[in-house]
Amino acid sequence: MILGIETSCDETAAAVVTADGYVLSSVVSSQADLHARYGGVVPEVASRRHLDLVSPVVREALDAAGVTLDGVERVAVTQGPGLVGALLVGVSAAKAIAWARRLPLVPVDHLSGHVASLYVEPEPLVPPFLCLLASGGHTLLLAVRERGASERLGTTLDDAAGEAFDKGARLLGLGYPGGAELDRLARDGDPGAFTFPVARVSGLDFSFSGLKTALLYAVRDLGPDQVELRKADLAAAYQRAIVRALVQRIDEAVSVTGLDRVAVVGGVAANSALRAALPGVRFAPLHLCTDNAAMIASAARYVDELPYPRYLGLDAYASVS
Ligand SMILES: Nc1ncnc2c1ncn2[C@@H]1O[C@H](COP(=O)(O)OP(=O)(O)OP(=O)(O)O)[C@@H](O)[C@H]1O
Ligand SMILES: [Mg+2]
Repeated sequence: MILGIETSCDETAAAVVTADGYVLSSVVSSQADLHARYGGVVPEVASRRHLDLVSPVVREALDAAGVTLDGVERVAVTQGPGLVGALLVGVSAAKAIAWARRLPLVPVDHLSGHVASLYVEPEPLVPPFLCLLASGGHTLLLAVRERGASERLGTTLDDAAGEAFDKGARLLGLGYPGGAELDRLARDGDPGAFTFPVARVSGLDFSFSGLKTALLYAVRDLGPDQVELRKADLAAAYQRAIVRALVQRIDEAVSVTGLDRVAVVGGVAANSALRAALPGVRFAPLHLCTDNAAMIASAARYVDELPYPRYLGLDAYASVS
């Protein structure tokens, strides 16, 4: 039994996952409402909220799984990348729990965690496959040849796909984070009503900042009354441009690598237009797309554990070089 803890951004999450990949519980407490008034995550506010929430969320995950700490064999925690103050709350909590029970601790990379959302029962995906990780902070194309290891084929040169959704949503006056709301609004719109560009970038990289600027200009040229009237069309056309960019790169990566099985993970994997545009593709389970601790516990199954008490000096990392 693995207890997973995730506090890399603005979700405080804990989960219990068995060693063979069954998710017994997954509790996510989102701070989105707390940060909404600032239009983005305020790091210090996030850390303080994690401090309040981490113990009750862990307790709730254990209760929901019907286990006590006596049943836990390993503690897994997100070590990075993310907001370092936020990460440190989870890392400290995990160290304390593991140390108190003389348990091993498994430090997990958040991005490997997103990929490991594909490895949970009842339909675990078996490598090799091509993986698009599209989240609030990252847009990566990965060649996954074995569990716990991947090769990076492409990344974004500027904004991440989820960030592009959020910035677009903000320009249309939607809340934060606006990806899911933009997705809903776009269902009532005509994606052909406006034409937004798909950036041409060499290799297998992505770029979304030009698209965001194109929407900014469209909104400015239309004026507030027209924007209000045509909000759904703008959302649908903007979403179509993001989806096209992602689908195009996946197609190219398939021909470059010869990997014909494709999977999509991360918050943007929840997007309904992306799911519709990629019928043969495997998507992370909906409840495991945005940040959660079940994916962290799942990833821990493929990472070497640190035996008690060797992890007491373990540090978090904000980014990967
Ligand atoms: N249905 C949806 N359509 C489009 N975007 C969505 C949808 N649901 C969530 N998102 C976006 O997913 C992102 C959040 O995903 P996730 O929690 O995986 O990212 P993160 O943890 O903030 O970033 P990272 O994992 O890179 O550190 C947000 O940008 C959000 O707007
Ligand atoms: Mg994430």
